[in-house]
Amino acid sequence: MIELAPSILSADFARLGEQVRAAGEGGGSVIHVDIMDGHFVPNLTLGPPVVRSLRKVTKLPLDCHLMIENPDQFIPDFADAGANWISVHQEASRHLNRTLHMIKDHGCLAGVVINPATPVEAISEVLDIVDYVLVMSVNPGFGAQKFIPSTLHKMRKLAEIRGDRDLHYRIEVDGGVALDTIADVVRAGAEILVAGNAVFGSGDPSKNAGALLRAANEAAMVKV
Ligand code: DX5
Ligand code: ZN
Repeated sequence: MIELAPSILSADFARLGEQVRAAGEGGGSVIHVDIMDGHFVPNLTLGPPVVRSLRKVTKLPLDCHLMIENPDQFIPDFADAGANWISVHQEASRHLNRTLHMIKDHGCLAGVVINPATPVEAISEVLDIVDYVLVMSVNPGFGAQKFIPSTLHKMRKLAEIRGDRDLHYRIEVDGGVALDTIADVVRAGAEILVAGNAVFGSGDPSKNAGALLRAANEAAMVKV
């Protein structure tokens, strides 16, 4: 099943509740929340208090993408604030196995993220632990960047490994997903599609989300 995860990074933070509601009305079924610390990535965003406020305005799962150093330190705070899914970067986690178990122990779905320069092999030993794998299709840190097509083969590979090893993780993609790239990521095997600028950048988030989902579902039908 294809799901659209609108990323609030490109939303109007002064009207966050309203914008999240609109994206949900358009078919967004997971809210993607980008957490940046100014160290792991060269940008700063938000922390647990904003997640706690979001929790009050939506029943949709909150997908917290941690782009931070030392994620173990903050996982309990995000879980307590209402995160449903928490993902950590392979590149930022010294003890990835422990960190992923920690996320699960806090009652959340656990995801592992790989940057464009990181191969799938780097997460081979945790694929049986995770609920989802997030393939970055831009270098993390900013919205509205250009999609990197060379990341597509990693989505294909993850779909193949899942079949070969009889695993059950879902495949998420993040970065540059828009009307002109969405069919490619769906055909490559991505199932949870993060989109920031394409949903909140301009126009009506509800209509934008609807158009993206339609395009994604069309590509999925052609694939089958
Ligand atoms: C980038 C973030 C993304 C970002 C995607 O570091 O992880 O979630 O919001 O934005 P778009 O869809 O605009 O590329
Ligand atoms: Zn993200």
